[in-house]
Amino acid sequence: MTYEATRERLETYFDRTASTTWERLTSDAPVSRIRQTVREGRDQMREMLLSALPGDLTGARVLDAGCGAGQMAIELAQRGADVIAVDISPSLIDVARQRTPDDLKHRIDYRAGDMLDPAFGDVDAAIAMDSLIHYDADDIAAALDMLAGRTRGPIAFTIAPRTPLLTTMWWAGKAFPKSDRSPAIRPHRATGLEKSLKDIGSAVELRILGTVARGFYISQAMEARG
Ligand SMILES: C[S@@+](CC[C@H](N)C(=O)[O-])C[C@H]1O[C@@H](n2cnc3c(N)ncnc32)[C@H](O)[C@@H]1O
Repeated sequence: MTYEATRERLETYFDRTASTTWERLTSDAPVSRIRQTVREGRDQMREMLLSALPGDLTGARVLDAGCGAGQMAIELAQRGADVIAVDISPSLIDVARQRTPDDLKHRIDYRAGDMLDPAFGDVDAAIAMDSLIHYDADDIAAALDMLAGRTRGPIAFTIAPRTPLLTTMWWAGKAFPKSDRSPAIRPHRATGLEKSLKDIGSAVELRILGTVARGFYISQAMEARG
């Protein structure tokens, strides 16, 4: 599947099919025990990705690529960053806007659109939490290469690690009712992404930050630098 075709399916899924499921998962509302593990895993992952960035982000311009309901964007703004938060789903962008505390609103520029759109300009750092997990290795490599051209510092992102466990209990497959299940998640190994980067002549280097496996949530944090 091409990058555009995957993005289109994700837009349909996150903007319509499962937007209320996502709104609930990313809120404080009670959820099932299974989804609670996903929520806890995602909280842990947010911290792991943020650890790749300086604690004080005052004055830094940071891209939240595929910002969803705005959880990461709000954390970044709390650390002083000026955030450009982009998502292909306009309805999740609306949720994110509504959830942003008034005192942080001036720090977050929410935009509905493609996270790779060069119109969003250069940044000091970028984060893509669980927003590349549906794409092929070649698409992820191309996305990282493009982002690296506009990002002065680290790009922290996640992949679905290729583990045997993943095939039996992937959170997006099992934690949601069938009708709410996402388009296929594509597990990758860091070495596979490195090969794809090499194939396109990219100078981007990868580093594994760690893995979060919490109940039905399994995701690997990575850092890319161009
Ligand atoms: C699993 S959600 C994660 C959202 C958010 N990063 C978080 O961790 O809460 C993935 C998000 O990536 C967005 N997304 C995927 N591909 C995108 C693209 N090419 N441009 C912008 N957003 C994209 C989806 O619309 C969705 O909101």
